[in-house]
Amino acid sequence: MAPTKKGGKKTAATQEKKKGGFTKVAKADWKEGFKKKQVGVSDMTLLTTISNEAVNDNLQKRWTNGEIYTYIGSVLISVNPFRDLGIYTEEIISRYKGKNRLEMPPHVFAIAEGAYYNMQAYKENQCVIISGESGAGKTEAAKRIMQYIAAVSGGQDSSIQEIKDMVLATNPLLESFGCAKTLRNNNSSRHGKYLELMFNDRGEPVGAQITNYLLEKGRVVGQVDNERDFHIFYQFTKAASEEQREMFGLQGPETYVYTSRSNCLSVPGIDDSADWKDTLKAMQVIGLSKAEQTDIFRMLAIILWLGNVQFEEMDDGNSKVSDSGVTDFIAYLMEVDGSVVEKVLTQRTMETQRGGRRGSVYDVPLNPAQAGSGRDALSKAIYNNLFEWIVSRVNISMKPRSPHTQIIGVLDIYGFEIFQDNSFEQLCINYVNEKLQQIFIELTLKAEQEEYVREQIKWTPIKYFNNKIVCDLIEERRPAGIFATLNDATATAHADPTAADNSFIQRSAGLSSNPHFESRGAQFLIKHYAGDVMYNVSGMTDKNKDALIKDLLDLVAGSGNSFLQGLFPDRPDPNSKKRPPTAGDKIRASAGALVENLMKAQPSYIRTIKSNENRSPTEYDSKAILHQIKYLGLQENIRVRRAGFAYRNTFEKMIERFYLLSPATSYAGDYIWKGDPKSGCEKILTDTGIAKEEWQMGVTKAFIKNPETLFALETMRDRYWHNMASRIQRAWRNYWRYKNECATRIQRFWKNNKEGLAYAEVREYGHQILAGRKERRRYSLLSYRRFMGDYLNVGPAKSPLGETIRTACGLANESVLFSARSQLLVSKLGRSSKPSPRYLVLTDKAVYIVVTNNKEGKIVTSLERKINLAAIRGVALTNLRDDWMAIQGPICEEGDPIISCVFKTEFITHLMQTTRGQVTISIGPEIHYNKKKDKQAVIKAVKDETVQKDDVYKSHAIHVASGEPPNSVSRPAAKRKAGVVRPITKGKLLRKGGPSTDQQRPKPVSKPKPAAQALPGQSKPAATAKYTPAPASTSYSAPAQSSYSAPAPPPPPRAGPAAPPAAPQKPMYKAKFAFQGQEGELTLAKDDEVELVQKDDNGWWLVKRGNEEGWAPYNYLELVPPKPVAAPPPPPPVRRPVPAPAPTPAAATPATGKKPAFPGTNLNKPQPKPPITGPKPGAAASSSAPAPKVGGKPPVPSAVRPPVGGSKNTPGSVRPAAAPPGQMDLAAMLAKRAQHMN
Ligand SMILES: Nc1ncnc2c1ncn2[C@@H]1O[C@H](COP(=O)(O)OP(=O)(O)OP(=O)(O)O)[C@@H](O)[C@H]1O
Ligand SMILES: [Mg+2]
Repeated sequence: MAPTKKGGKKTAATQEKKKGGFTKVAKADWKEGFKKKQVGVSDMTLLTTISNEAVNDNLQKRWTNGEIYTYIGSVLISVNPFRDLGIYTEEIISRYKGKNRLEMPPHVFAIAEGAYYNMQAYKENQCVIISGESGAGKTEAAKRIMQYIAAVSGGQDSSIQEIKDMVLATNPLLESFGCAKTLRNNNSSRHGKYLELMFNDRGEPVGAQITNYLLEKGRVVGQVDNERDFHIFYQFTKAASEEQREMFGLQGPETYVYTSRSNCLSVPGIDDSADWKDTLKAMQVIGLSKAEQTDIFRMLAIILWLGNVQFEEMDDGNSKVSDSGVTDFIAYLMEVDGSVVEKVLTQRTMETQRGGRRGSVYDVPLNPAQAGSGRDALSKAIYNNLFEWIVSRVNISMKPRSPHTQIIGVLDIYGFEIFQDNSFEQLCINYVNEKLQQIFIELTLKAEQEEYVREQIKWTPIKYFNNKIVCDLIEERRPAGIFATLNDATATAHADPTAADNSFIQRSAGLSSNPHFESRGAQFLIKHYAGDVMYNVSGMTDKNKDALIKDLLDLVAGSGNSFLQGLFPDRPDPNSKKRPPTAGDKIRASAGALVENLMKAQPSYIRTIKSNENRSPTEYDSKAILHQIKYLGLQENIRVRRAGFAYRNTFEKMIERFYLLSPATSYAGDYIWKGDPKSGCEKILTDTGIAKEEWQMGVTKAFIKNPETLFALETMRDRYWHNMASRIQRAWRNYWRYKNECATRIQRFWKNNKEGLAYAEVREYGHQILAGRKERRRYSLLSYRRFMGDYLNVGPAKSPLGETIRTACGLANESVLFSARSQLLVSKLGRSSKPSPRYLVLTDKAVYIVVTNNKEGKIVTSLERKINLAAIRGVALTNLRDDWMAIQGPICEEGDPIISCVFKTEFITHLMQTTRGQVTISIGPEIHYNKKKDKQAVIKAVKDETVQKDDVYKSHAIHVASGEPPNSVSRPAAKRKAGVVRPITKGKLLRKGGPSTDQQRPKPVSKPKPAAQALPGQSKPAATAKYTPAPASTSYSAPAQSSYSAPAPPPPPRAGPAAPPAAPQKPMYKAKFAFQGQEGELTLAKDDEVELVQKDDNGWWLVKRGNEEGWAPYNYLELVPPKPVAAPPPPPPVRRPVPAPAPTPAAATPATGKKPAFPGTNLNKPQPKPPITGPKPGAAASSSAPAPKVGGKPPVPSAVRPPVGGSKNTPGSVRPAAAPPGQMDLAAMLAKRAQHMN
């Protein structure tokens, strides 16, 4: 087995499955996936040398070629291109949909697809952890993942679409409030974000939740040069509406200290006004009301104006607000008293405490520096709480609409940061990054190696740097880490930030035992996994304290604006001994919760790398990148990957997913499998034929070495389902075919044996009426000729023509016994009579003659004559083969109608039947009739062999060639072979040979194909015994070809040699490409010709080459143009001999006790051939034929008229031979059609 090949097959199966009938064959996708020539290696586990430099070289080659993504196993490395590569389009999304990682070039979409697929397939929560330094592309990657999942996750439901829209809208909204331009990144995330998408069991997103991590609120009040405040302040000040400007006294960003101090009002590539619109749109999508929006903007205005409050130093050193107009306006915005704002900003209320009891309260004036930091604290607190409010408001909107079963989390957190001046914020940010690196190490390196040991898997350990020591340095409580030390310092000198900072410096000496920490006076150094960072202690303890002084909290609490009040819900209890949580406590707790959360999900990693510091699309900064490669531990990652196993799962889970792949554990496994999960799992892996070195069995888990092997297993599983579905479809189709065929046979049999027999009996009665007195037309004697009666459908089974005639005749309750086209002899004054077309209708009441005339361009069908049956005295016919008859009606001026009708015998038969033989049938060489009331006339029959077809009427004489002898009877039906039941072989699953004995039955040929087997007693394998219809005899060829696949009955006696019909040419297909088939498939070399057996609409066709049959992809095949075939020579015209006449003219009378003239009435019993003693064709015309008595009334009709539907005992009835099924239908149909077309 070659697992890599199978990886491609999976696509077919998966796509077919997912798209429901999509018939594209997978291999095309393989080519598609590798169309573009890859530069370097797309998976660095394949690098020949593993070193940081080799990794760097590979990344550089690819990046320069516009390929920013590269794998290390399942980890995606992304190097920021700083340019639009056009690789995130809908079209690219569709290419990655449903594909496994190896089928397509590395891409962030492949990671998203993997997470989404695994979530659905394994029912496990997923998370995508994106790490990398600031500006490396984490936020971009997170957005692409959301874009992909929103695009591929189904759900037409409006609530699902709404969730998708909201999730996508969180990006512009949170970017506006949470991102800012920094020196490293124009759109730097200044907070961490973990977005959890919640899915129902159909994989549709039903809700989402965002967890926010530590906003860098210090940015609100000041930034280093050339950085900016949060984007929203510039959007708001630049693009707010006039109404908002009026309401909030808003001016441009240059007006406000907070936004202008760093001298960076605009950023190239950022359009604040356009972004403002996007922000408003996002607010609308998320469902923020107008009032909520106004409240948010009011908070922004308060912050902006707070920044503009300036303090002057008075003589006593205390501060005074320079412009009370500003504080008044702030008071207006905050809905508090103007003087209160001024007071709160310049004074602090102090309370003395004596022995734990409250003492006196007094106001302490603040110097300008103290006043300024109080003002900034208020601004930061308002913004921070506003941001958290927005996140929780978004979460309310995205609450799950219905229960969710799985989650995909996407973590986009601020990147590792090293600035000139690093403070508490950087400490927190870098701490979270250390934690993420920990997870990565835990899951990919440490945990993996530990698991191999635990599971007793053979394994070579890899050395790597474990950054747990750095995490411990920052977060440990005992011995106190940095956060704990900060807390202690804050607690001892809570009133004085400087004193607290100093306390921290003293205490931090204790941290120096950790090799990753160095105390450097007012600074300290931490050796992070990603580099050494020097932090300034100044202000750290205060930032850690993160508490707003009581006066400011009182100010907010006194506000008339409930939104502002609501932003500060928890006021610390002044009496509580418990220290409120510090910023360090909070970040440690939330980082811990995050890690716990992530560890519960199946992680996917994206490690982003920043290509250069200048946002240049062409600069590849090798040195900086090499540094990132080192600290990200990519080299170790590759080594672990190479030595390790790509996939593992518990035996139970493995069996649950792949039980179908071994016959021992498949459906029958419930009954036959007795082993434990481990041996079951081993059995599956063995039975699938995967190489032994590709997997190992641990203690509780099975380990799969390469992802290709897992994909191969998945492919087999998919294919199993797919095959099952095809089989069920095929069986269902066959069942229907079989059912239809059975129904057709039953109908045919019924017709032949019931209706058919009845019609044939009428015909036999017709023979008897003529009683050997009239020469016969050859067609009248064909075995399948039946007397169907109403050829024009004048009766209930209406046709448009039948309906017209019926209306013309004015028929109501009469039953129509006969209708046919005919010719009426019409005499024109002074001219000889001429035949003219008419419709002849016989009902149980009368004979109708209907004519169609052209009256002024209009076709009018009208009744020409009606003769009541009671008035009909007789019908006169000639004794020759012609079709003429005189209906001897009442003596009247119109005379007797002379009519020519091919079905005249049938007409008189029905007439006799319905009048119970009361009509005299005169047959002789002349027809005597009344031309007018008092004028008798005679028409003579003249034998004239020169008349080619039918007969010719001319001057009272009918010229006609010789017909079949008068005593001719219907031709016997072809005999059927005794005991042969034709098999139903239309369906593929139906066995050739039919329901006969086991020995006759071919061995079933199952798919996927086993080796062809020979049938018992046959030298050729069963599969080759393809049934071909036997050539039909000339006279039966039409029905035999059209309806049967069984051999036609043997030709009638002395029939001329029938030319076998040309065997239908089978469509042949040629292989366009070589195809390596697997089980059940047919391996094809290029240009192999195969015969098509069956087309399946799933992209696979069943084809046959010689004895081999199997499936092949349809788009590998092209039709071979059919070769021109010479038409078979037409069969020689052979006149059939006529069976011998019965010994006596009254032979048809059963009273004689003789054998019926027609053998073969029993369908099953072999019948003797009819004796062939009659004269040769043409002999009947000789004068030696017994001359019938002219004009004599034959006795038979009155005596032997059978009841309609005649019984065996009916005198004169002769059981007709059973016609081969289908012939009767065809004959009747042909007769009807001829009647309609004439
Ligand atoms: N795949 C990409 N294609 C094109 N440009 C990109 C891509 N990834 C990132 N960029 C560019 O790099 C900039 C920085 O990316 P991004 O904001 O995602 O970085 P980050 O890792 O989130 O940084 P931070 O930690 O500062 O938030 C983007 O604004 C964009 O201009
Ligand atoms: Mg970001």
